[in-house]
Amino acid sequence: MRPTPPPRTYRVKSFGCQMNVYDGERMAELLAAEGITPAPDGEEADLVVLNTCHIREKAAEKVYSDIGRLRREDGTAPLIAVAGCVAQAEGEEIMARAPSVSMVVGPQAYHRLPGMIADAVEGRRSVDTDMPAETKFDALPARRKVGPSAFLTVQEGCDKFCTYCVVPYTRGAEISRPFSDLVEEAKKLIDAGAREITLLGQNVNAWRDDSNRGLEKLIEALAAMPGLARIRYTTSHPNDMTQGLLEAHRDVPKLMPFLHLPVQSGNDRVLKAMNRSHTVDSYLRILDQVRAARPDIALSGDFIVGFPGETDAEFEDTVKLVEQVGYAQCFSFKYSPRPGTPAATMDGQVPMAVMDERLQRLQAALNASQTAFNQASVGKRCQVLVERRGRYDGQWLGKSPWLQSVHFTGDAAIGDLVEVELVEAGPNSLAGRLV
Ligand code: 5AD
Ligand code: SF4
Repeated sequence: MRPTPPPRTYRVKSFGCQMNVYDGERMAELLAAEGITPAPDGEEADLVVLNTCHIREKAAEKVYSDIGRLRREDGTAPLIAVAGCVAQAEGEEIMARAPSVSMVVGPQAYHRLPGMIADAVEGRRSVDTDMPAETKFDALPARRKVGPSAFLTVQEGCDKFCTYCVVPYTRGAEISRPFSDLVEEAKKLIDAGAREITLLGQNVNAWRDDSNRGLEKLIEALAAMPGLARIRYTTSHPNDMTQGLLEAHRDVPKLMPFLHLPVQSGNDRVLKAMNRSHTVDSYLRILDQVRAARPDIALSGDFIVGFPGETDAEFEDTVKLVEQVGYAQCFSFKYSPRPGTPAATMDGQVPMAVMDERLQRLQAALNASQTAFNQASVGKRCQVLVERRGRYDGQWLGKSPWLQSVHFTGDAAIGDLVEVELVEAGPNSLAGRLV
């Protein structure tokens, strides 16, 4: 690598989950604190951070085509940093495969980016995939300006070891950030403009403080903060749905009636092979309890089709489960073998054509479920948190308590909570009328 002038502008591109979105925002703040400014829209940045996702093969391969696309006509490229979970999993491999990359930095080490940039400017490439004891959270600059709906990472990592999943390897063991740090950061977010905070973690409901208090304690503390109107959390594991958290859904009005609780499959044999450590029945019992606590709760889930050994009949159990639960939202994926995970070498890998067919069938069921949920909302009145302007003059976009996208026209501003009547439903959004 040849020395280059210090970068003046940056762009951070985040892929994958909301935790990556959060990390991307924090990296942007870190670069801004170094005096590097965001590249104006449509203009090339001096420094590009690709904040990558490793969860499925397609997502992981994308980084190499993205790197290729950054090359200029004269063969040069901006300074490129690869961050996120591909960086963590394939650090040295990226260096070997992509000579135009000068920095590779894992999700627990990105607070060290400024030093890596200084090295890159002098022509030295670097890889940092440490999971250092001093945490990035202590080293990062304070939050300054955020939108009305902000993310707050409270927990990282995973100890569950589902047999298909790379997360325990890319994000490490489960750790919870300290209660007082989170209260501090939440205050900063509110001061910076947040009206809604979504607590994030790979297993967010596994969060514990020093005295083993669960996520509901954090939710209660946030609910007591004036200025904050809404609290959400994602993503959860069924085994960590404690009584205390269920009670928070009943007792804390600011906790929104929405629960993303992935089940992955509707068949017990498949769940066992996935090492999910819950059954279809125990999952359904949790849903019964949460509905008892909060009758209007909107449910969401993740599903994998074509897990090794999944038969047609076992897949049909998943479709049945979807029809039975009535999800408000869902994400479904074809199984993707990930290097180093137990499922990748299991017998009975399902052919792509079969997975394609199953995914189509499942998505049809999920779309029907989502449309039915939205249609059942028509006629309801609710509050919408206004997040941005719509496509048309005077139109605004925001979210209902049930995380539906709602558009309406009229007098409003970003960050307002407005009362609307839901008047029309599509599969992905609703029209509202200001009341
Ligand atoms: N293949 C397909 N989907 C996966 N997920 C996680 N690992 C894989 C994989 N190897 C899905 C799960 C998880 C979501 C974030 O991604 O459904 O809940
Ligand atoms: Fe993707 Fe998982 Fe990393 Fe999120 S934590 S970016 S879903 S691999």
